[in-house]
Amino acid sequence: MISEQPKGLLIEQVGHELSAHQTYMGIALHFERESLKGWAKFFRDQATEEAGHAWRIITFLIDNDVEFSLPQVGGAPTTYGSARDAVMLALTSERDVTAQFEALADAARDAKDNRALQFVQWFIEEQVEEERTMMALLDVIDSGLNLFQAEALLEGIGD
Ligand SMILES: [Fe+2]
Ligand SMILES: [Fe+2]
Repeated sequence: MISEQPKGLLIEQVGHELSAHQTYMGIALHFERESLKGWAKFFRDQATEEAGHAWRIITFLIDNDVEFSLPQVGGAPTTYGSARDAVMLALTSERDVTAQFEALADAARDAKDNRALQFVQWFIEEQVEEERTMMALLDVIDSGLNLFQAEALLEGIGD
């Protein structure tokens, strides 16, 4: 059994992860429009990872016999003013997700729900990676390298 408050937040988090999936698909499409295939692939992979995060939470809910519907997911743009704007938005969104998992951990701790608390630890660790990845992309962009040439560096960033 999972306590009420962490349960509600976990169901909401499924929506946040699916929404991140959608946002990253949109960023991938922005790069696709610019023929920056390497950048597009990077964000497509990132989008897949976000869907995986949603799946990870969903299976935890199922394993714990929780009834839920999938939350509504809003739209996402497929064009940005610049690569920097797109990556900055991604970093901001990762920081928001970090705060959501911090709140989840607090709720689980308050409810003395060790099962939920243990489950969210993985995400708290994962968020360190996720934020770092976006900061690394900003460093690449701010280096002034041509974005086509910078594609060669992308494989060394992230997973
Ligand atoms: Fe995520
Ligand atoms: Fe993420």
